[in-house]
Amino acid sequence: MCGIVGYCGHQQAEHVIIEGLRRLEYRGYDSAGLAVVADGTLHWAKKAGKLANLATELETHRLPDSNQGIGHTRWATHGAPTDANAHPHLSADGKVAVVHNGIIENFATLKAELIAEGVIFSSDTDTEVAAHLLGRETARGAGLAEAMGRVATRLAGAFTLVAVSADEPDVVVAARRNSPLVVGLGEGENFLASDVAAFIEHTRDALELGQDQVVTITPDSVAVTDFAGNPSEAHPYHVDWDLSAAEKQGYDWFMRKEIFEQPKAVADTLLGRWSDRGELVLDEVRISPEELRRINKIVIVACGSAFYAGMVAKYAIEHWTRVACEVELASEFRYRDPIIDPMTLVITISQSGETADTLMAIRHAREQHARVIAICNTNGATIPRESDAVIYTHAGPEIGVASTKGFLTQVVACYLLGLYLAQIRGMKYGDEIRALVDELESMPDKIQRVLDGIEPVYELARKMARDEDAVFFLGRHVGYPVALEGALKLKEIAYLHAEGFAAGELKHGAIAVVEEGTPVFVVVPPEGRDQLHDKVVSNIEEIRARGARTIVLAEEGDTAVSAFADMLISLPRCSTLLQPLVAAVPLQAFACELATAKGHDVDQPRNLAKSVTVE
Ligand code: F6R
Repeated sequence: MCGIVGYCGHQQAEHVIIEGLRRLEYRGYDSAGLAVVADGTLHWAKKAGKLANLATELETHRLPDSNQGIGHTRWATHGAPTDANAHPHLSADGKVAVVHNGIIENFATLKAELIAEGVIFSSDTDTEVAAHLLGRETARGAGLAEAMGRVATRLAGAFTLVAVSADEPDVVVAARRNSPLVVGLGEGENFLASDVAAFIEHTRDALELGQDQVVTITPDSVAVTDFAGNPSEAHPYHVDWDLSAAEKQGYDWFMRKEIFEQPKAVADTLLGRWSDRGELVLDEVRISPEELRRINKIVIVACGSAFYAGMVAKYAIEHWTRVACEVELASEFRYRDPIIDPMTLVITISQSGETADTLMAIRHAREQHARVIAICNTNGATIPRESDAVIYTHAGPEIGVASTKGFLTQVVACYLLGLYLAQIRGMKYGDEIRALVDELESMPDKIQRVLDGIEPVYELARKMARDEDAVFFLGRHVGYPVALEGALKLKEIAYLHAEGFAAGELKHGAIAVVEEGTPVFVVVPPEGRDQLHDKVVSNIEEIRARGARTIVLAEEGDTAVSAFADMLISLPRCSTLLQPLVAAVPLQAFACELATAKGHDVDQPRNLAKSVTVE
């Protein structure tokens, strides 16, 4: 949700910033802009639409050479995506330029105060108040860093602000509260960005900033303070992936590349979890076994696809641990006064680690003294930092806006956590856990087999792109969240009316929408080993009787379903609880191919942004 870059060093700032924004465009793509300082003057350009529009503008209206600047790619919150509302925004004296990610909740009051002083606003954004407040402070004699601290204390809400001043060569200043910001540490150059992807081609050494900090970079120094200007600590770390992970490598879309990376992402997430002592180890879970034994309730909190991963987890965790487990949307959890206490374990799931609703849920849970374990894919993000413990999924950077490998590795991390809890609570013993971990370790090969046989799914998608405008998905037990996830993928990138239903619920209402030719995907539990198999087969018969065209995902060798399937997608054999790891994959590939056939921008679907950092 908005990508921000700041640069100070020896390279051409415009080039570094545009390349950085290109890698952050997944965060928002309504408009883009940048500002540089050259010869004591600010120069800037901004344009509505994707970054390509800004790049074209810069070809005709060239900015002077500069080694210091800031840039922004926007997901609009306040004010439509127009040139005027694009960032950067400038102070009234034209000397300070600022870019912003987040929402300044008290902007109306601050705007009224500034208007009363005679300031004229040129945009509808909340950000512009920050520009004018910074300009007011620097005009009164404050340095940019001091001004930033003072202004930040006046702002309510979530913000990362990055600014340059015409009067301060070789300096870029930023502040953050509730919104992401990392520092890239180079040689003779330093970077600021919402995400390390922006500077990964220049350096893999980074600084993770804390809450309410101001950072000042020059080509040779980085200084971190609190808002009052007192020196403050930031945590250095090394990024464990490189530029190639942030590039498409021959794929048409990041999303397709990420779908095909899933065997490796799952294998990497499982790596090193089994000790020589014959135990499952989750080193990062720094909550004592005694405490975890006392837990009497688990609440999983997440948004979107991560919420569906949590739904899968509920089935596995309750089955393995016999501890009651609820799953709740983060945006609902925080505001309904949930019953949680020190005996509650809250598990949050977030690929980005920055989702505002999930972060607020964590803060609320910790205020009630619940213990919080985060499942996260982004090292150093705010959510793991504010949790008691974290299990990292090792999916590598996920850039396509629709989550794929993020989702699958979240499911894997949930399984690991469920088995770990079962182990320390004495519900499962060495051999049983080893057998389940063995099965988990066989899943990357099975996912690969699904991908190797994906062509018929692509063919179906290309055919359906021509004439379908509604698609339904059915599943039961863990197949139900898979159905919801399949529908979400299709909505997000193909803009189709897609809905997922619990198969058993169909006849309680939704079957009324099924008519001659309606395409319905059905996820079937394994035959023979699962009591629900025959019931789902009956559900398929019911919809076929009403004319539905059935696309059935069932285990290879399932003899009962073939008679009822207009198309059969075979899934490798695995136990019911692990089936989502193979069943979700054809649905992701189907959505990706259908959206491609419709000519949509798969990686940057309309109205969406990857990382939702506002509530
Ligand atoms: C769906 C999707 C979103 C995210 C949701 C949570 O494809 O990407 O629904 O799953 O916004 O994001 P994270 O996991 O970053 O908290």
